[in-house]
Amino acid sequence: MRIDIVSVFPDYFRVLNLGLLGKAQKRGIVSIATYDLRDWTHDIHHSVDDTPVGGGAGMVMKPEIWAECLDEVLGDNEDANASTADASGSTVDVPILIFPNPSAPLFTQETATELSCSSRRLVFGCGRYEGIDARVPEYYRTVGRPLTADHGENAPRQPIEVREYSIGDYVLNGGEVAACAMIEAITRLLPGFMGNPDSIVKESYTSEPLLEYPQYTRPTTWRGLAVPEILMSGDHGRVDRFRRDQSLAKTAVIRPDLLGQLECAKLSKQDRKTLIALGWTVNGQHPRKA
Ligand code: ADE
Repeated sequence: MRIDIVSVFPDYFRVLNLGLLGKAQKRGIVSIATYDLRDWTHDIHHSVDDTPVGGGAGMVMKPEIWAECLDEVLGDNEDANASTADASGSTVDVPILIFPNPSAPLFTQETATELSCSSRRLVFGCGRYEGIDARVPEYYRTVGRPLTADHGENAPRQPIEVREYSIGDYVLNGGEVAACAMIEAITRLLPGFMGNPDSIVKESYTSEPLLEYPQYTRPTTWRGLAVPEILMSGDHGRVDRFRRDQSLAKTAVIRPDLLGQLECAKLSKQDRKTLIALGWTVNGQHPRKA
């Protein structure tokens, strides 16, 4: 997968060279390039923002700077004629353009899973201040990226998929941290990224809207706190059941909204028993707090 990131703080993305993501880049599973938006400015101050039309606090990022930059980044379609799938398994080269935005749909595990296989090219545009002029996403969605080296307004263009996502109901200083979070969530799902792909299968949110059960390692007693006895029983059936019950109980307390999304028809007899004991009813389409 190829990932391009545009920001006024390209250094933010050095964190992506650490750990498993750094290794994945060295192994060719993902390649990440960053661009400094200010390289596309023309004035002596390298200004990228202006006051909001209609008034109001803060500054808005100028569309013409973003468009000059994005035309160049999105117009570079060196992979466009590749016919074989890369490590991500996707053969689609047309980039998906993503703008982190606190006023957008929530980015979830489902989004990460879908994006990890829907294109082998993602371009992130990270805004600062009050965000990017709203015409920028609209332009690439409707008019699109240039298809030739000529990036002028009359160049042939191809509309592309443009998405905007929030990573949570809080406001950050800009899209950089949000882009890092999304990139990590997406790339770790690429085939070959994880040494042990099983570690993804049982994680929170992966197959069902449930939080993961608590995990323990040795020593089995530490500072007077013992690991639950059953985990040392060697009885895999009982261990699985214990962990499943812990997941259900933890989700009921911390994220009851998630528990309400489970499909009653897909619950086992024991799941239903556990949920009833936790004070939930399971006779409708979804569990409800009794
Ligand atoms: N930019 C600022 N806050 C954000 C958020 N919560 N999600 C995505 N982008 C953002």
